[in-house]
Order: sequence, then structure tokens, then C-alpha cells
Amino acid sequence: MSDVTDQSTDIDSLIDVMRRRRSVRRFEKGRRVERGTLMKIAEAARWAPTGANTQCFDVLIVDEPEMRDKVLEVFLRQSSRLIAHVKGFPAVKKTYLANTVAIVIVLGDPRWKASFPNATDSEWEAEYEANNENILLASLGAVIQNVQLAVTACGLTSAWLSGGGEDTTNRDLADLLGYPEPLVAYGTIPIGYPEKDVSLRWRRPVEQVVHWNRYDPTKFRPQELVDFYVEKLRPFAMYRGNEDLEEWEDVEEKTGKWRDALTGPTPNPDGKVK
Ligand SMILES: Cc1cc2nc3c(=O)[nH]c(=O)nc-3n(C[C@H](O)[C@H](O)[C@H](O)COP(=O)(O)O)c2cc1C
Repeated sequence: MSDVTDQSTDIDSLIDVMRRRRSVRRFEKGRRVERGTLMKIAEAARWAPTGANTQCFDVLIVDEPEMRDKVLEVFLRQSSRLIAHVKGFPAVKKTYLANTVAIVIVLGDPRWKASFPNATDSEWEAEYEANNENILLASLGAVIQNVQLAVTACGLTSAWLSGGGEDTTNRDLADLLGYPEPLVAYGTIPIGYPEKDVSLRWRRPVEQVVHWNRYDPTKFRPQELVDFYVEKLRPFAMYRGNEDLEEWEDVEEKTGKWRDALTGPTPNPDGKVK
């Protein structure tokens, strides 16, 4: 059987772009980008896989400063709502959007769910409806990911804002940008030049993520760990610039009894699922 190691240069450079893709929320002021570059990013979106090849998306690119400022106003209102009405989420102010060179809005069209597997009898309707929603969202996620990777490969950087997926933000964006009712702005991707070197973000060790041939329950993260992340760790895990939590000077204080579970290969050594 032949191996694939002769392709390793491709995979190394692909992973390099993937590692450098970052959610960056600070951009350099006063820069511009050519439409040619933005078209390359749109080309990357075009090649995303979608359920039943429905291509259930459009890519709306805002590159005029006046329109960008109006989109910014929508997102300032969105972040005020997050601060006022969302339980403890470590949201950052969206004023940084002012320095983007462009904003890509990925519009999804739920009508295409009709093209995904649909049940012939009522017994299976709910099951396939839920699956169709998943297929739609997964397709749009692939589009957004392609956009972010292309942005990185072009020497720019971006963020992935789910704002737009909520009704209020989506209605505001639709009024402003003129897209019709069935379409929803599932992802908004502000693009810019990074203000400073873009560091990494925490990732679980690969041994913790991978299961060989069957699910390994020693890797099942206990509910208590999920609760700890939500209550304590989330703002640091989201915004600190290290891949490995062990690099944090205050790792002991921040991770407490969960240190090994967060940094080692097995978050659940006794293998009990609880
Ligand atoms: C579906 C999805 C929705 C997200 N929504 C937001 C968002 O609304 N605002 C934001 O600042 N970041 C958002 N992010 C970015 C995540 O916070 C970020 O991917 C994560 O903290 C890891 O950081 P990294 O992307 O720099 O590796 C979102 C990411 C995904 C995949």
C-alpha cells in the first residue's frame, strides 16, 4: 500500500495557514485592499462543499467605507444587546470594525433544505427536518471557514462573528444591505490587517481529540469540566495567546483541579461517563 508522505509539503503549508487563521479583533487603521484580493476570497468560498451541492449561500462583500460604517452601527447595537441580555458572555466591543478593509457577510438560503433528504412519512419528518437544519448550518460553516483560510493566505486576518444569526441583527442587516426575506446572515467576517503579531489560541492536545476505531471514554469531558469552562475559564481560553495552557504563568490558579484534564491526553482517566 502506498503512503501519502510525498504530499507532506502541501499538508504542512495547509496546516500552517490553518494555525495562523485567527479570530482577530484589532486591525491596523487606514489600510485598503484591492477588489482582486477580495475576489480570491470569494473564489475560496465558491469551492466550499454544500449539502446536495445546493450552494445554499451568497457572499455579500462590503468594501465601501460609508456602508462599512453602517454595518458597524448594526454590530455596535448587537454587542450592546450581548452585554445587556446575555448571561456572562465575555463579549468585546465591536468598535474595532471601524478599521476593517472589508466585511464579508455569508448569507444562507434555508429554502435549499428542500434538496436535502426529506421524509416520505410523518413518522420520520422531525428526524429529517433536524438533519436538514444541520446540513444547512454545516454547509455555511464550511463556506465561512474557506473565507477565513483564504483571508489568512492573502496575508490578512479576520474574525468570525455569529451575530447576524440572531433575528434582530439579521433584520437590521437585511434592511441595510437589501437582501430578501428568506436569506439570513449566518456569518459576518470583518477583514483587516492585524494590528500586531497574531498569536495562537489554546487548543486541546491532539491525543485528547482523537479516538482510534471506537470512542475512548477516558476522553469524555465530564459535565463539571464544561461548567468550569463556562463559569471560570472561558474568557482566558478565548483570548489568551498560547496554544498550551501550561505556558500560562498562573496556570495553577486558572485551571485548578482541572489542569491535567485540560492539558493532558485523558480528561476523564477513570473512563466513567457522567
Ligand atoms: C460558529 C462560530 C461563531 C463565532 N461567533 C463569534 C462572535 O460572534 N464574536 C466573536 O468575536 N468571535 C466569534 N467566534 C470566534 C471564536 O470565539 C473563536 O473561533 C475561538 O475563540 C477560537 O479562537 P481562534 O478563532 O482565534 O482560533 C465564533 C466562532 C465560530 C466557529
